[in-house]
Amino acid sequence: MSKQPFYITTPIYYPSDKLHIGHGYTTVAADTMARYKRMQGFDVMFLTGTDEHGQKIADKAAEKGVTPKEYVDKIVAGIQDLWKLLNISNDRFVRTTDPYHIQTVQKIFRRLYEQGDIYKGTYKGKYCTPCESFWTESQLVDGKCPDCGRDVIEAEEEAYFFRLSAYADRILKLYEERPDFIEPHTRMNEMINNFIKPGLEDLCVSRTSFDWGVPVEFDPGHVVYVWVDALSNYISALGYENEQYHDFERYWPADIHLMAKEIVRFHSIIWPAMLMALKLPLPKKIFGHGWLLLEGGKMSKSKGNVVDPVVLCNRYGVDAVRYYLLREIPFGADGIFSNESLINRINADLANDLGNLVSRTVSMIDKYFGSTLPEDFETDALDGELIAMANELKPKVENYLEHLQFPNALTEIFKLISRTNKYIDETAPWVLGKDETKRARLACVLYNLCESIRIAAVLLSPFMPATSPKIFAQIGCPQELTEWSSAAQFGRLPHTLTVHKGETLFPRIDMAKELEELQAAMDKANGVEHKEEAPAKAQAKAPAKKEETPEGVITFDDFMKVHLSVVQILECEKIEKADKLLKLIVDDGEGRRQLVAGIAKWYTPQELIGKKVLCVKNLAPAKLRGITSNGMILAATLPNGDAQVVFVDDAVPCGARVR
Ligand code: MSP
Repeated sequence: MSKQPFYITTPIYYPSDKLHIGHGYTTVAADTMARYKRMQGFDVMFLTGTDEHGQKIADKAAEKGVTPKEYVDKIVAGIQDLWKLLNISNDRFVRTTDPYHIQTVQKIFRRLYEQGDIYKGTYKGKYCTPCESFWTESQLVDGKCPDCGRDVIEAEEEAYFFRLSAYADRILKLYEERPDFIEPHTRMNEMINNFIKPGLEDLCVSRTSFDWGVPVEFDPGHVVYVWVDALSNYISALGYENEQYHDFERYWPADIHLMAKEIVRFHSIIWPAMLMALKLPLPKKIFGHGWLLLEGGKMSKSKGNVVDPVVLCNRYGVDAVRYYLLREIPFGADGIFSNESLINRINADLANDLGNLVSRTVSMIDKYFGSTLPEDFETDALDGELIAMANELKPKVENYLEHLQFPNALTEIFKLISRTNKYIDETAPWVLGKDETKRARLACVLYNLCESIRIAAVLLSPFMPATSPKIFAQIGCPQELTEWSSAAQFGRLPHTLTVHKGETLFPRIDMAKELEELQAAMDKANGVEHKEEAPAKAQAKAPAKKEETPEGVITFDDFMKVHLSVVQILECEKIEKADKLLKLIVDDGEGRRQLVAGIAKWYTPQELIGKKVLCVKNLAPAKLRGITSNGMILAATLPNGDAQVVFVDDAVPCGARVR
């Protein structure tokens, strides 16, 4: 059966000296989607590129004493390098200075002119003579030129206009008939209320005040408005009205145009109107995600506060950065980037939960079976919950990815990873390892760990394309079991698999030390000089950091290693012949957990059942009178030596972390 086409695009970026992590956000999201669709068996076309015309570029080139083309060539090469660093798998890269693109824009302009959708008129507005710039009333600052602050005059110039006003009704009808055309849905209301209902005016689509643009062939002196030029990239790059490519029929209409919210209006009003005028099908979806902000507001090069993706990738690896971007912020909403939250994510999710799981599993197989599992295999009813969860994961992840809900998809995958870590605690392989008669059971437990890891790694592949292959290599997973479809079924790895110990996937980071070093590296990349007081400022941001931690004092990072959570006591009973011990079954928010507590002297089981208490969840399991305790509940020791359990208000949900 032939593959179904899937066409996804990012905006084409302005060549700026410094693309920051915000630009990387869209591109990483689009890349993840493209990789996911490829793994699912689609014939994917993933397009990105650069938007290189306009007065600003011409001005910058002039400042540097080079031609605009020389100026953009250099920057575009840097952008392409950045996409390589971020492991972006675009199939095509379009530049608006490419001759084939220019040809398409010219043909579109001519056709719209010939059929009457573009007409020649007069542009009236405010004009700043020294700047040679037209401004609208609303662009003026206190009635003056927003660039130089000087007086402006009423002026007019000949210009071409696109009959956008004629398309208002058809655009409203489009939104009505296809409520999923713009996502998230709230952005559609913005378009209707802020732009269409107040009245769409015809759009001025040519300029004569500068010449760095696509020339209007039939009227020298006019260049095409940058947005008409830029939006056309989505079809020029498929070969529409040019001979460079020949797959317009195959991929158009686009499945997803992905971008941040500020340019949704160009894509959901001007672009559909242009396509309607050209009698072409409309894209299936315009998705406008939120902005990645810094605590002080939007990143900007002039503020010297942009987050440089190169610095982050060099320090933490590209997959940690990709993971953070898609895990931390609900896709569609604005979110704040912070160094602390990035390092927390790396430590908690990647180093602790995922990395540790892989290295513990591989080390145990190495230790107990010399790296190859035996044929003998003993299952247990206890395995059922883990296996069911793994078997149910793929459709859940797919459902989220179909709606570009990247954080939810990752959360689901990490639930399996946490459940698998818990399975280690429940089965205590180190106890099985001491008993010769339990070898087959131990083999089964370790096999189940590898299977869970395999399924998680397959589903993580579109997000972390460099990490999943490392995991597959460590657990000895054959190629065909790394494919997307293979994640549907638990139990496909051969029983006698061989593991290969590998490097630590995500080394733990010392938060306090790293915050200082990262800030210094970022400042260096932004060209911010470190003054005398700089170290003091860094100290203020990271109070936990001391030159040396005094004896008996732990760092914040040490404290964060303790997983302290609220649990509810479901069952409680005395342990025979142990007058101090109670056996408890608690709900820890993820499931049932068995604990043993030395509090029988002070509490009866009835007094405890139903109560919420605090539990250290990641304490190494211990056996007390032959009963495994997977954690410890907290109690205060009173002056007379009695113990008093710390009870928690019933309103606090099970699993809530205490810190
Ligand atoms: N050239 C136009 C787009 C033309 S598309 C036909 C443009 N370019 S841009 O370089 O300014 O990049 C805009 C895109 O970069 C945004 O839509 C968004 O996808 C991404 N982002 C830039 N800064 C961002 C954040 N701080 N946060 C999230 N996305 C950001 O507009």
